[in-house]
Amino acid sequence: MNFSRNILITGGAGFIGSHVVRRFVTLHPDYRIVNLDLLTYAGNPANLKDVEERENYVFVRGDICDAELVEELFSRYEIDGVIHLAAESHVDRSIVDPLAFARTNVLGTLTLLNAARKAWNGCWEGRRFYHISTDEVYGALPAEGGLFTEHTPYAPHSPYSASKASSDHFVRAFHDTYGLPVVLSNCSNNYGPYQFPEKLIPLFVNNIRLRRPLPVYGAGENVRDWLYVEDHAEAIDLIFHRGTTGESYNVGGNNEWRNIDLVRLLVATTDRLLGNPEGHSSSLITFVTDRAGHDLRYAIDSSKLQRELGWRPRRSFEEGLEQTIRWYLDNDEWLENVTSGAYEHYYEEHYAKR
Ligand code: NAD
Ligand code: TYD
Repeated sequence: MNFSRNILITGGAGFIGSHVVRRFVTLHPDYRIVNLDLLTYAGNPANLKDVEERENYVFVRGDICDAELVEELFSRYEIDGVIHLAAESHVDRSIVDPLAFARTNVLGTLTLLNAARKAWNGCWEGRRFYHISTDEVYGALPAEGGLFTEHTPYAPHSPYSASKASSDHFVRAFHDTYGLPVVLSNCSNNYGPYQFPEKLIPLFVNNIRLRRPLPVYGAGENVRDWLYVEDHAEAIDLIFHRGTTGESYNVGGNNEWRNIDLVRLLVATTDRLLGNPEGHSSSLITFVTDRAGHDLRYAIDSSKLQRELGWRPRRSFEEGLEQTIRWYLDNDEWLENVTSGAYEHYYEEHYAKR
């Protein structure tokens, strides 16, 4: 089959990546989607079992830091577009093992940029390198007032956000130095199905299900701006196709929640869906020592994306949160598999012998 585009998506077996891959494979059947993912603890190819047999989908297990592999993929699949999501993504892990974050997020991004530069070799027409980043690069906002815009100076505080900030700088440097046709976006906290249960929402749903404590860091006063993952995937589709080269776009839900208020809503909704009496799981809420360097507040001004590309978040938070909690409760086998590590066998059983 002749494909109109050949797109390398990195990190497609992870949380956001799996939604992006599913969207591109199904909505753009004329594109070949090559998903390069190392399958770290956060990558689960079973997240994509509904599309893995599609003719326009290729899965490659490999490391974005492996320059030889990445260059070979550019040439074998005549890659003309990159959507780069592969990363170490959990702040708490970055505090324990910062070097892993520098390796994957900085060196991995640089390896991909360099491979794109070499493969495209000055022929930029019809080519695009899209780097997916986070609002955490902007640092923290005060409790009241202010939003991150595309012009907010970078001020990362965690090893995770510092590594993402560094990768963003390399992406811009390749645009300014070599003319590589790049585009970037910085998004707020995502939630939805297939998120590894170390992040707040799936961790807490899983813990309620198992009657385990819900560890709220500090006083639960920190604020995050939550966006449904499919709304992010839609933004990524728009920016990949219509974003202006060299520019970055902020993506956010205009949906700020203090952690403790979110946790209370999550507890009430989960109890209702489980048929528990009101307040049944409230006693699981446990205030624990705060995260080191814990950013107080993130909130995104996404008016540029809304104005220029017509994007709007589609899901209301109440609807998206309930749908998400229901998904985790209905897919308890998925939760068991990722928390026990059993999903590691999926690759061997479904791909390795192909
Ligand atoms: P995730 O941790 O769920 O998934 C990351 C994926 O990358 C996994 O499949 C993992 O196997 C893969 N990976 C890790 N190291 C790799 C390597 N060296 N080579 C190849 N693959 C590798 O992450 P996520 O939450 O889906 O985030 C995806 C991207 O979006 C990240 O770049 C993250 O910084 C960014 N982002 C995430 C959020 C969020 O709320 N989750 C918000 C804004 C931006
Ligand atoms: P998280 O999902 O780790 O995303 P991020 O750190 O990238 O924002 O955490 C969301 C918020 O919830 C953050 O303020 C930290 C807090 N949090 C807890 O209070 N307890 C937890 O167990 C976790 C994982 C997070």
